[in-house]
Amino acid sequence: METTKKLSAFFCLFFTINQAISESEHMETFCRKSSRNNTTYNTNLKTLLSTLSNQSSFANYYNLTTGLASDTVHGMFLCIGDVNRTTCNACVKDATIEIAKNCTNHREAIIYYFSCMVRYSDKFFFSTLETKPNAFWSSTDPIPKSFGKFGQRLSDKMGEVIVRSSLLSSSFTPYYFQDTTKFDDQYNLQSVVQCSPHLDPGNCTTCLKLAFQELTHCCCDQLWAVIFTPKCLVSFDTSNSTSMSIYIPVPKHSGSFSIRGNNKILGRMVLAVAASVFAVLLGL
Ligand SMILES: *[C@@H]1O[C@H](CO)[C@@H](O)[C@H](O)[C@H]1NC(C)=O
Ligand SMILES: *[C@@H]1O[C@H](CO)[C@@H](O)[C@H](O)[C@H]1NC(C)=O
Ligand SMILES: *[C@@H]1O[C@H](CO)[C@@H](O)[C@H](O)[C@H]1NC(C)=O
Ligand SMILES: *[C@@H]1O[C@H](CO)[C@@H](O)[C@H](O)[C@H]1NC(C)=O
Ligand SMILES: *[C@@H]1O[C@H](CO)[C@@H](O)[C@H](O)[C@H]1NC(C)=O
Ligand SMILES: *[C@@H]1O[C@H](CO)[C@@H](O)[C@H](O)[C@H]1NC(C)=O
Ligand SMILES: *[C@@H]1O[C@H](CO)[C@@H](O)[C@H](O)[C@H]1NC(C)=O
Ligand SMILES: *[C@@H]1O[C@H](CO)[C@@H](O)[C@H](O)[C@H]1NC(C)=O
Repeated sequence: METTKKLSAFFCLFFTINQAISESEHMETFCRKSSRNNTTYNTNLKTLLSTLSNQSSFANYYNLTTGLASDTVHGMFLCIGDVNRTTCNACVKDATIEIAKNCTNHREAIIYYFSCMVRYSDKFFFSTLETKPNAFWSSTDPIPKSFGKFGQRLSDKMGEVIVRSSLLSSSFTPYYFQDTTKFDDQYNLQSVVQCSPHLDPGNCTTCLKLAFQELTHCCCDQLWAVIFTPKCLVSFDTSNSTSMSIYIPVPKHSGSFSIRGNNKILGRMVLAVAASVFAVLLGL
């Protein structure tokens, strides 16, 4: 836990946030500056981003390390478990372009989209449990009173989903788990969890629990919500959409994304910058 705590503080202090609320498809970008600015590193980074972009037409997850010694760059992408190759590729392609553009000459950066995330760093991070920087997004519509004990149900169901996801071994899209349950013949609760494949099952479970706790604090009275952390994703939806495809962006010719099928893009974006909740939780 010591490593995790340090990293949390680290992210808090050194990441600047490029916020783009008007860009519905895109959740958040974080860049970390450094006094070191090495041409070799930047060249390696360029190659790495290009490789990630290319690999995203073959897999939903990929990690890569390039360069030597202090010029080493580690990078990865992760697509949400229910998106197809076309969408994954389009998302990662966009993300690598954006991250290169918006985090120029930064040693470390992370970018979240609804369908994927891309990250690079001068430090090895693949198997480390981290909870920051994170981004979350929720509906602006509160759940109807008629839903009754929704908070309790959500908590119970997500607890169950997290346990079930930990029983999955190395599948095609590791740790992705989706459940839909009908309550009172009144509403369907869709629950989705996903971990980065490099996390061991124990750390995956921890990551999901912490992320869900964070989501509970902000959004458990909303129709739907999603949180993305560096190592896992948790989301729920009670709004009867046919699938979690509400998070699947449709590529447009401009190269940007929009959310398909409904007006959920009007949702409110909440920044989890201070993330004091995580700090407290991790200190336990
Ligand atoms: C990237 O930077 C451009 C120009 O500064 C800005 O318009 C855009 O919203 C930024 N995108 C992200 C993802 O931060
Ligand atoms: C880093 O180096 C590149 C290329 O040498 C230069 O264009 C850029 O301005 C430098 N950035 C910083 C923040 O020093
Ligand atoms: C920077 O790049 C040069 C080669 O261009 C390399 O010799 C050096 O080790 C690199 N790293 C640092 C931290 O200066
Ligand atoms: C990625 O694919 C493009 C187009 O096919 C190619 O030009 C580029 O060299 C590839 N990048 C890497 C790192 O292989
Ligand atoms: C991904 O990371 C692992 C270390 O966790 C490493 O063994 C593997 O070679 C990496 N994959 C690539 C393509 O570099
Ligand atoms: C991939 O998913 C997108 C979004 O749901 C869809 O529009 C597209 O037709 C799918 N492509 C393939 C090849 O299945
Ligand atoms: C979790 O990850 C840490 C490194 O971040 C590692 O030391 C630990 O063994 C992992 N497993 C568990 C179950 O905590
Ligand atoms: C969702 O579907 C259920 C039946 O499956 C229906 O009773 C309920 O009114 C629907 N909720 C919304 C918000 O449309």
